[in-house]
Formats: sequence, C-alpha cells, structure tokens
Amino acid sequence: MIQHFLTLLDLSEDQALSLIQRAIELKAKQKAGEPHEYFKTKVMGMIFDKSSTRTRVSFETGMAHFGGTAIFLSPRDTQLGRGEPIEDSARVLSRMVDIVMLRTFDQDNLECFAKYSEVPVINALTDMYHPCQLLADVQTYVEHRGDIKGKTITWIGDGNNMCHSYINAARLFDFHLNIATPTGFEPDSKVLQAAGDRIKLTTDPKQACEGADMVTTDVWASMGQEEEQAQRETAFADFQVNKNLMQLAKKDALFMHCLPAHREEEVSAEVIDGSQSVVWDQAENRLHAQKALIELLLNQK
Ligand code: CP
Ligand code: NVA
Repeated sequence: MIQHFLTLLDLSEDQALSLIQRAIELKAKQKAGEPHEYFKTKVMGMIFDKSSTRTRVSFETGMAHFGGTAIFLSPRDTQLGRGEPIEDSARVLSRMVDIVMLRTFDQDNLECFAKYSEVPVINALTDMYHPCQLLADVQTYVEHRGDIKGKTITWIGDGNNMCHSYINAARLFDFHLNIATPTGFEPDSKVLQAAGDRIKLTTDPKQACEGADMVTTDVWASMGQEEEQAQRETAFADFQVNKNLMQLAKKDALFMHCLPAHREEEVSAEVIDGSQSVVWDQAENRLHAQKALIELLLNQK
C-alpha cells in the first residue's frame, strides 16, 4: 500500500521524529549551498481549492531544490473545478505525476482522492486538519528549545483544523496540550477523546497559559468561514494572545502562529512582533519540513 500523509497519524512515532531531524539536516544543506537534487524528473501536482502563500511557495521551492518540478492547479482552470469526479481526477493525475498535494475543504474529498491515487497524496490543509504546518511547528520548537516530549503547549482560540492537528501532534510527539476555546467552538470530540488525558480543555485562556512552554493561536475565522467573521469577533473577544496572557506562561515560552495573522484580533502586535515570537522561523520551516516529507514519501518502496 502507498503511504499517504492525510493526517499526522499516518506517520509512526519513529518516522515523525526522524522526519524532524531530516528537516533540520536539509535546512543546513540548503544554507550551506550544498546541492541536493535527489528527485530530478519527479513532478508534484499541487491542487488548491483554497488560497495559499506559504504552502504553495514552500512546496514549489522544495521541489525545485530537489531538481524536480511542481504544477499548480486551481479549480478555475481544471476540470475538477468543473465537476469532473475526484476519483477520475485522482486516477488520471496520478498516472502522470509522482506525488500530489491537495488543499481542499472536506477531509472526505482528500481521502477519496488518496483512495484512487497511484502516488502518495499530502494533505496541504482541509477543514479538519493541517498536518504539514505541525511538522514545521515541531521542527521550530526543537530548534529553539530541544525535545518537545513532555512539554506543555497551549492552544488559544478556535477548535479548528490547526487545533485538531495540535491534538494529533500531542499524541505523536508526546506533549501536553492545554486548549482554551469559547463555548461552542471546541475541537471535534472524537479527535479529542482519542488523545486521552494529554489534553486539557477549558474556556479560560488564563488557566490554559499557566506554566506553558509555548503558546499558539490562529485566526478566528478560517477560510470558508468569512461570513462568520463579525459573530466570531464577539465570541473570541477574550481570547486574544497578548502580553497579559503570555506573562502567565513560562518566562522563556515561545509564541507561534501558522499565519496569516490578524494583528490586534487573535494576537496583539506586541506579542507577534515581540521577542518570544518565532513565527518567521516557523514559516520558513514549512519548506524544510515538507522537503523531508516529500523525501520520505517518494523514497518509499
Ligand atoms: N500557514 C499556511 O498554511 O499558510 P498559507 O495559507 O499561506 O499556505
Ligand atoms: N485555520 C486557518 C489556517 C490557515 C493556514 C484556515 O483554515 O484558514
């Protein structure tokens, strides 16, 4: 069976830890100007049903570093966007390209694509998960602070795709996760339950931040929820990550945000632009972590 990357849990614990180390190595190689064109002639198909800056540029750049090529496909230009079945698109594309990344709405559509694909498929964000981002986040934590195992990470805000991937990351990398969401915006109960007592769920952001090694948040309205923006601004008003909240975490706690960010909404400018923030390293690491992921998937037997 082909290995896909549809959620973080598609990786074993060993694979996940080696992938982070490999991402750090590939980053060093690139910084040293050492060529690493391991995948000349390999082609990645990149299907985007939603907007992207980081994901698109990091995957395209990663394939270029490997000596390969990436093809950007948007629903405006493909037959998939005009209703060609996902099954048929997967069969056809996967006879031509060597690997596919897909950013879409429904996780079921991604799973359907993977089922009919003859090549590895990567989840580049769905409404349910954003596992590529977590690879970069864990790499960033490890680079700044060492092992993430046993640490306490705090998620403030929406129980969304990023929050679900943090829950899965807590299982895979064995850290504690405090989640603070407003009532009605909790993460999916099945995802939560499967992670057991590593996760503490509260409606009190202050309590969630106490003693944290890292605090992270995300936009209040994700892609596809634009019409709920005003209503969400009210619901999340007490969930801004600002200096007062950061002061409850450990003194050397890191701040992360997957970006794009809205300053003075989910995070104050002072925090995201302050000394505890590592968001630019985190964004850069999308490139390195995904290169390690591409390598793992293309090298499978
Ligand atoms: N964090 C992230 O996935 O960014 P993009 O939406 O710009 O790809
Ligand atoms: N939760 C956000 C993440 C963007 C990278 C969204 O889905 O829009």
